[in-house]
Amino acid sequence: MASEPAVRARLRLAGQEHLLRFWAELAPGARAALLAELAPWEPDALRLHCRRAAAACARPSGPPPGLASRLGPLPPERLGRASRSDPETRRRWEEEGLRQIASNKVAVLLLAGGQGTRLGVTYPKGMYQVGLPSQKTLYQLQAERIRRVEQLAGERHGTRCTVPWYIMTSEFTLGPTAKFFRDHDFFHLDPDNVVLFEQRMLPAVTFDGRAILERKDKVAMAPDGNGGLYCALADHQILEDMARRGVEFVHVYCVDNILVRLADPAFVGFCVLQGADCGAKVVEKAYPEEPVGVVCQVDGVPQVVEYSEISPETARLRRPEGGLLYGTGNICNHFFTTAFLQTVVREFEPALKPHVAVKKVPYVDEEGNLVKPLKPNGIKMEKFVFDVFQFAKNFVAFEVLREEEFSPLKNDHTAARDNPSTARRALLTQHYRWALRAGATFLDAQGRRLPELLNLPPGEDPPAVCEISPLVSYCGEGLEALLRGQQLQSPFILDEAQATVLRPHDA
Ligand code: UTP
Repeated sequence: MASEPAVRARLRLAGQEHLLRFWAELAPGARAALLAELAPWEPDALRLHCRRAAAACARPSGPPPGLASRLGPLPPERLGRASRSDPETRRRWEEEGLRQIASNKVAVLLLAGGQGTRLGVTYPKGMYQVGLPSQKTLYQLQAERIRRVEQLAGERHGTRCTVPWYIMTSEFTLGPTAKFFRDHDFFHLDPDNVVLFEQRMLPAVTFDGRAILERKDKVAMAPDGNGGLYCALADHQILEDMARRGVEFVHVYCVDNILVRLADPAFVGFCVLQGADCGAKVVEKAYPEEPVGVVCQVDGVPQVVEYSEISPETARLRRPEGGLLYGTGNICNHFFTTAFLQTVVREFEPALKPHVAVKKVPYVDEEGNLVKPLKPNGIKMEKFVFDVFQFAKNFVAFEVLREEEFSPLKNDHTAARDNPSTARRALLTQHYRWALRAGATFLDAQGRRLPELLNLPPGEDPPAVCEISPLVSYCGEGLEALLRGQQLQSPFILDEAQATVLRPHDA
C-alpha cells in the first residue's frame, strides 16, 4: 500500500493536501482507509477536476449568449407522434417492437446510481413505494412490466424470449439494490438476466476548488452523473455481455418515472423502422417555463437544451399550428443501438463535457466538527446520458402522452410537484381510465355507482381506486375481456389471481 508521505506528495501536486489535515488524529484503521481512498488518484487528473469544477461554477448561469440564433426545432421527419398517428401506423410500430423483443434483440437499462437527495430517503429510489394499494415498489413495477412485455412478445410470435435488465448503480445504491433483489427473489425474473454494475465516483469540490472531506477520514464523493453510463459500460464489459446475448437495441430509462414502459414495443419499433441509432421519447411541455430539457437542434445537431439555457421569449415561441416551437420535453427514455453505444464508448466518451450541480454537501469544518449545510456549498460534476445525441447519425424523437407515460418521483411530500402523491395519483388515474375504457363501472362501499370521469382535472384523485398489475396489462391491453360490463367495488386491485376469477371460462 502507498505510504502517507507518498500520498501527501501527490496531493500537494494536485493542490489538495488539506485532505490529510486530520492525519495526526486518526486511528490506524481510519488512516489505512483514507490512504486506500486517496492513493489511486492521479495528481493531474485530480487537479484538473477540482479546477474545472470551480471554473464551471464561476461562469454566469442563464441562457448562453447567441444560443437563441443557433437553436432550431427538430425537423418533422425526425419526430414520431404516437398519439397523433393513425391506428394502423401505431400497430406497425408495435408489431416491429414485439418482433425484435421476441427475437431477444432488446434489452432495458436502468439508470439507478443517483442519490435521490430531493426525495430524501436513505435507500435507493427504486425501493420506494408511493403508497399504492398493492404496496409495490418502483423496482417491482418495473420487473413486472418486463415480465409482461416478454409474455406479450412471446405469445405473438410463439416463442419464449428474454428482455435482459441492466441496472447501473453507484457506491450508494449497489449494495442495497442487490440485497433488495435477492430478498425479493428477483421478482421472479431469472437472476442471470438481471445485471447490476457500478458507475464511477468523483470528489465533491468547494466553490474555490478544494475537494471536500465528509469525515476526517473520508472524502465526499458523488456518482459521476447518469452520463457516467458510458464509462461504466466499458469498465464492466456490459456491451460484450449484450453482444453475447444477441442484444442489438437498448431502452435506457430513469428509475423514478412510475409510468415508464420498459422496452416499449411502439418506441422500439418506431426507432427500428426509422433506422435510428439513437432516439428519445418526449412529451409535450405543459407550459413554456416548465423546467424540463428540450429535445431540439443546435446548429442543426440534435441535443437536449436545458430549460435554464432557453430564454423566456424563445420558450414561448409557437408553431404556426399552435403548439410550442420548443415543446418537446425530454423524459429520459432513450433508444440506442448497441453499435452506436460501442462507438460512443470507443470514440466519443472523452468529449462529453461535465455539467455543474451545486448541492448541499455535509463536511467537517477546520475544528473537525461535522456540518450539515443549510445552503448549497459544494459542486458535483456530472455527465448527462443525453449528451451523446450529438454523435448520432440518425436521431429520432417519439412523442407520447404525458398522462400515459410520464410521472417522475423527484421530491418529498413537501414539494408541490413530482412527489409521492403525484406519482401514485398518476398511476391510479391511468388504471381507472383503462378500466372505464374497458367497460367497467365502479361502486362505493355501499354499492352506489360512482361517477365516470375520463378527463379528471389535474391534481384530482379519481372517484374510484383501481390498481391493475403490470402482470395483467402492460399498457391497457387485454382488459375488455376481463372488465366489460363488470361492476367493481372500489378499492379494486386487478392482479393475476383476480384476473383468473374474471376471465371468461371459454377464453
Ligand atoms: P436525477 O437527476 O433526478 O438525480 O437522476 P437523482 O440523483 O436521482 O436525484 P437528486 O437530484 O439527488 O434529487 C435522474 C436519473 O439518473 C440516475 C438517477 O438514479 C435517476 O434514475 N442517475 C443520476 C444515475 O444513475 N447516476 C448519477 O450519477 C445520477
